[in-house]
Amino acid sequence: MSNDSASLNLAGKDVPLPVMSGTVGPDVVDIRKLYGQTGAFTYDPGFTSTASCQSAITYIDGEQGILLHRGYPIDQLAENSTFMEVAYLLLHGELPNKDELDKFVYTISRHTMVHEQLATFFRGFRRDAHPMAVLVGVVGALSSFYHDSTDITDPQQRLIASHRLIAKMPTLVAMAYKYSIGQPFLYPDNSLGYTANFLRMTFGVPAEHYEVNPVIERAMRRIFILHADHEQNASTSTVRLAGSSGANPFACIAAGIACLWGPAHGGANEAALNMLREIGDVKRIPEYIARAKDKDDPFRLMGFGHRVYKNFDPRAKVMKATADEVLKELNISDPVLDVAKELEHIALSDSYFIDKKLYPNVDFYSGVILNAIGFPTEMFTALFALARTVGWVAQWNEMIADPEQKIGRPRQLYTGSAQRDYVQVGDRK
Ligand code: CMC
Repeated sequence: MSNDSASLNLAGKDVPLPVMSGTVGPDVVDIRKLYGQTGAFTYDPGFTSTASCQSAITYIDGEQGILLHRGYPIDQLAENSTFMEVAYLLLHGELPNKDELDKFVYTISRHTMVHEQLATFFRGFRRDAHPMAVLVGVVGALSSFYHDSTDITDPQQRLIASHRLIAKMPTLVAMAYKYSIGQPFLYPDNSLGYTANFLRMTFGVPAEHYEVNPVIERAMRRIFILHADHEQNASTSTVRLAGSSGANPFACIAAGIACLWGPAHGGANEAALNMLREIGDVKRIPEYIARAKDKDDPFRLMGFGHRVYKNFDPRAKVMKATADEVLKELNISDPVLDVAKELEHIALSDSYFIDKKLYPNVDFYSGVILNAIGFPTEMFTALFALARTVGWVAQWNEMIADPEQKIGRPRQLYTGSAQRDYVQVGDRK
């Protein structure tokens, strides 16, 4: 709590409101007693000015382009750590020492297999189903397979459910891919690390040995780290809201996946690559820039702009460098990367984008990388979901352990009819 206090004058009455301070970042005005004291609610569609919880996991300074996980800058983590280290950090608050990391990696690797019956469950989906549609269903269905980790009042069960979700997501995402191309599912190989194991389950076939390319593995690891958590974004807030009612963790993560699917959130990298392909040639960029600026045209530059970052997205820098690395390694000259770079260059020197503080976000280059690695666009959001599961799970655990959290129940400004009497159908005009 800070020493400051705010005051609201409503209908001639002064209402003192406590002010709370975090470690860094904006203070918050505590309005919890406002309704009791005044009978008024606050109005904030899209929660642009509302802190919904206290959290010690991730910090973003949108003006400065800073993203910290438990205090560590995202670029340092992307450069130096493994995805398992980041997962441990997000879950437990500190980077693990060697023993802690070994134990964590061992535990996660012992949960990578999924119940054999899940393979049958997959077969109920249309072959051409979108992987996100499959994942919403399959991850929700995990609650029916792992009853022994759905009691959210038991910290041990919460931990086991968290490990299961982090461990099984790569297996499920790879299965969704294999199913869509009609190839057999591959069992996990726990002699490989988290990312390499996922690449093998996705691109390997039972008949052949799959050799993991270290450059691709590093790129994938970075993509996973860059997507691991992002404060109280839409899908994380969805997971918290679902969890606030006491729903089991598998159901909550399925809710997060559903939210992530939208094109304004996790679906943006798919949309960004589709847009770059549609533009196709640097000569057509001005036409698309003009459309993005046209108020009467719903078109937006996908992969541009962010609710929070208003200077640059620190994740986008790492992505751009990784895109160059991967294309060089694979010896690919993709015109889409040329279009992306030129589009970024033109947009960043255009007053519309400068004035509105619109910069490339994490999704602008990730599609180019994933495409080069060989993922079809429909898989992009599923990869995001795989990585974000770590953040969702960490945020869900933090919420359950927080004694101040209540069931999420926003209020509204009602604009419908006031009370009126029922009219029999024959008497209606
Ligand atoms: N292209 C053209 N104009 C844009 C764009 C864009 N990509 N983004 C925002 N604007 C304009 C918008 O038209 C509005 O103009 P005006 O003030 O004249 O009405 C202004 O900028 C503010 O836009 P907003 O929609 O009120 O901003 P927001 O903070 O609510 O939206 C956003 C953030 C990410 C939804 C939006 O920038 C967008 O739709 N971007 C494209 C989709 C995208 O790349 N999403 C991925 C986000 S990063 C991944 C993640 O964290 O999930």
